[in-house]
Amino acid sequence: MASNSITSLAKFSSIVLLTFFICSQAELGPLKETTMTVYFQDYYDGPNATLVPVTGRDDDGVWSFGKFGTIFCTDDQITEGKNGSSAEIGKGQGMYITSALDGSNTLVLISIVFTNEEYKGSTLEVQGSSAQFEKIREVTVVSGTGKFRFARGYATLETVHLDTSIFYSVIECNITVVHY
Ligand SMILES: *[C@@H]1O[C@H](CO)[C@@H](O)[C@H](O)[C@H]1NC(C)=O
Ligand SMILES: *[C@@H]1O[C@H](CO)[C@@H](O)[C@H](O)[C@H]1NC(C)=O
Ligand SMILES: *[C@@H]1O[C@H](CO)[C@@H](O)[C@H](O)[C@H]1NC(C)=O
Repeated sequence: MASNSITSLAKFSSIVLLTFFICSQAELGPLKETTMTVYFQDYYDGPNATLVPVTGRDDDGVWSFGKFGTIFCTDDQITEGKNGSSAEIGKGQGMYITSALDGSNTLVLISIVFTNEEYKGSTLEVQGSSAQFEKIREVTVVSGTGKFRFARGYATLETVHLDTSIFYSVIECNITVVHY
């Protein structure tokens, strides 16, 4: 008897959940997929740095990518093309935390704040462990706002240009997200 009512309750709950799911999907519209390739213009040192270490372990006074505990704050310009003079898509604002003891991984916590005509007012939240010294890194896209509400997906990153004389690098980023 008891197990019967539990079964009925379970059935009832799944019907309620299913109804809720169908109703909320109807309100949100169909799921869409958006892909884009964008470029982070990254100045990692120098007078106009867009990536700066803000804190870290004090043992030897060195804060660096490869050192566990170093936290960087960033506001990179994001452009449509590889060249820094191409059209701006938005800004990559957030932080990186060297989160592996051996320095190999950095935790990426970045909001892509769109400024272009198509997506102005919308954001994507990029978050995840990046194997920062690998050629291709993959991180998740966990959510978004505006046109990207309920977004989820992933982004792959590759450093496609590096000029150490001016502390400048360009990072190619392919994003795939599904959203309503
Ligand atoms: C830094 O930015 C300023 C103001 O935009 C500019 O005048 C200067 O040339 C830049 N310096 C470097 C090294 O890029
Ligand atoms: C961007 O374009 C300018 C002028 O077209 C060129 O001088 C510069 O080298 C280019 N930069 C990169 C990173 O390709
Ligand atoms: C992005 O996608 C293009 C086209 O498929 C590919 O050639 C490139 O290697 C990709 N880059 C990254 C960082 O995934």
